[in-house]
Amino acid sequence: MRHPLVMGNWKLNGSRHMVNELIDGLRKEVSSVDGCDIAIAPPFIYLDQAKHQASGSRIMLGAQNVDINLSGAFTGETSANMLKDIGMKYVIIGHSERRTYHKESDELIAEKFAILKEAGLIPVLCIGETEAENEAGQTEAVCARQLDAVLKTMGAPAFENSVIAYEPVWAIGTGKSATPAQAQAVHKFIRDHIAKHDAKVAAQVIIQYGGSVNAGNAAELFSQPDIDGALVGGASLKADAFAVIVKAAAEAKKA
Ligand code: PGA
Repeated sequence: MRHPLVMGNWKLNGSRHMVNELIDGLRKEVSSVDGCDIAIAPPFIYLDQAKHQASGSRIMLGAQNVDINLSGAFTGETSANMLKDIGMKYVIIGHSERRTYHKESDELIAEKFAILKEAGLIPVLCIGETEAENEAGQTEAVCARQLDAVLKTMGAPAFENSVIAYEPVWAIGTGKSATPAQAQAVHKFIRDHIAKHDAKVAAQVIIQYGGSVNAGNAAELFSQPDIDGALVGGASLKADAFAVIVKAAAEAKKA
């Protein structure tokens, strides 16, 4: 039985005040929720503060990026070991905003995946097609290519205790979520693709959906058998909306 994971991707949002306020609000809202893992990924500069603010709660912490190097002359970067050192559990990699604005390639993202596994951190590997790719019927081919970059270098065991987030780029921040049926079809494709290499690993890997998840559409998305939670952007910036999504995941995945 897979345990759902709902994770908030704060992107470039936040302040010292917001970290304390949002985490305090969330702690109250989710203290009695069972059956769903909860994580938030604030910007790097607030991770340590957020970790302290969340201590003793069920809220786990994640980062939004990592460098492929562990130390040395790499100005402006943050290493996997540093993230581990301050108590991070998850690290988002391959987000479409990094693929687009920072020109991150499938190969670089696979290197990040490897460095995270080595450090004992859990990669949250984002994959997904653009609107043009979707319209051209390339959704499955794009997702397969993005998964294969990791499968080729590390094999299917890399996905043991890892997370995949299927995020159609056209659904991110647009208010236009994939329908539950659309998302389920791609999630099943992703799981089947990994199962071609290792059925056991495929059966346990967490596959989140991301892209305009909100308090109103979460329950229906989570009712799909291969949707194991969500990576939430905009709606993770409000404690009450994020808590509704967390509760919907816990409820939907009850045995
Ligand atoms: P959104 O972002 O929920 O604001 O669409 C999701 C994401 O980019 O992870």
